Amino acid sequence: MEKLARKKEEFLPRGVFNMTPLIISEAKGARVKDITGRQYIDFAGGVGVLNVGHCPNAVVEAIRDQAGKYLHTCFHLMMYEPYIALAEKLNHIVPGDFPKKTLLSNSGAEAVENGVKIARYFTKRGGIIAFEGGYHGRTLLALSLTGKVKPYKLGFGPFVPEVYRIPYAYCYRCPLGIEYPACDVRCADYVKEIFHVQAPPEEIAALIVEPVLGEGGIVVPPKGYLERLKGICSEEGIVFIADEVQTGMGRTGKMFACQHFGIAPDILIVGKSLAGGLPLSAVTGRGEIMDAPHVGGLGGTFSGNPLACRAAMEVINMIEENALTSRASEIGRRAVDSLKGFQEEFPIIGDIRWLGAMIGLELVRDRETKEPATRETRQVIKLCYERGLLLTRSGAFSNVLRTLMPLVITDEEIDEGLSILKEVMREIRI
Ligand SMILES: Cc1ncc(COP(=O)(O)O)c(C=O)c1O
Repeated sequence: MEKLARKKEEFLPRGVFNMTPLIISEAKGARVKDITGRQYIDFAGGVGVLNVGHCPNAVVEAIRDQAGKYLHTCFHLMMYEPYIALAEKLNHIVPGDFPKKTLLSNSGAEAVENGVKIARYFTKRGGIIAFEGGYHGRTLLALSLTGKVKPYKLGFGPFVPEVYRIPYAYCYRCPLGIEYPACDVRCADYVKEIFHVQAPPEEIAALIVEPVLGEGGIVVPPKGYLERLKGICSEEGIVFIADEVQTGMGRTGKMFACQHFGIAPDILIVGKSLAGGLPLSAVTGRGEIMDAPHVGGLGGTFSGNPLACRAAMEVINMIEENALTSRASEIGRRAVDSLKGFQEEFPIIGDIRWLGAMIGLELVRDRETKEPATRETRQVIKLCYERGLLLTRSGAFSNVLRTLMPLVITDEEIDEGLSILKEVMREIRI
């Protein structure tokens, strides 16, 4: 293990960060084994990529079958059925009672870039509204939209112009210092401020928003927030883009988190868990918006790779046939029941936020001042790793423990993971 770690240092740039020193040998469901034979329970799920678990049989079989037929054609040279079948399926399951079309690409960031390009083409406008704490990827436009400086943006500017940023409905640290529900979700009206002081609505192509902030610290907006944003966009002819790269594919207890809020976005972006671990993302949107760019204006060499498309069809089948959306809600309830008990015992847990199986524990050094417990969060993750539990973190201050466990995790695995977390919490000193 040490030898490989040394080679990693030697051959990879230091910017490629590792949350733990783990080097995997194999994995199944919600369990991982490292190259020394140690076992772990996976609450991180490849940062939201493994909603149907590590190596589900149906997905692996579909990939094997496809690998025996053809691996690549470039869809622009030779078409194939799996791309078209997946587009048809996504058009059907993405919310919205209107004709839709789907473009496939390779990563979340690439899908974000495509979504914005299409919105610009359709509206003939340039501006984009994005959010503090929002995360959309590491390519330059996606990074320009991202609202977290360290480690993502630091040193990589200048960024793409005409990105206008507003605060998110982060009630635990309310940008207006008021409280829900008395606040009447006034923070949504920040969008209108932009129209007065930064750019008129006639120059804004799109608003891009995560229905729950993932990288920004599992921030679940109150009822009424996304609905109001969507309403303002509709009034002003601004394309409403929901970035469901992390919240999609059953994670929050519905296939897409927007469905909790009764919203049908003009464009919905999905990635991560879409193909069970193979790189694939999709931009699904209103037909007339998606059809705006000219013939030849959209695409890419690997976009919609056939293995990934076959895998994605199996992922969607698994979510539907095994009712993994309901399971996500059950997982959330079970975990949060225990975590609320932890919160009574450990003052470091300032806030618990969740939607289905997307759960965040915000750690603070003081519940009054809410000083972020960034160092302690890192320590919890390290100690959990040493005892066999994989966790990740997020938040503007990197002080939110984040769980994105596979939705095929068993109750016993959840309880075992939580008991490790509890043991570790007991040892953390501020
Ligand atoms: C909401 C959201 N959008 C976009 C991305 C970028 O996806 P990728 O890393 O596949 O480019 C992520 C990745 O974490 C994400 O969480």
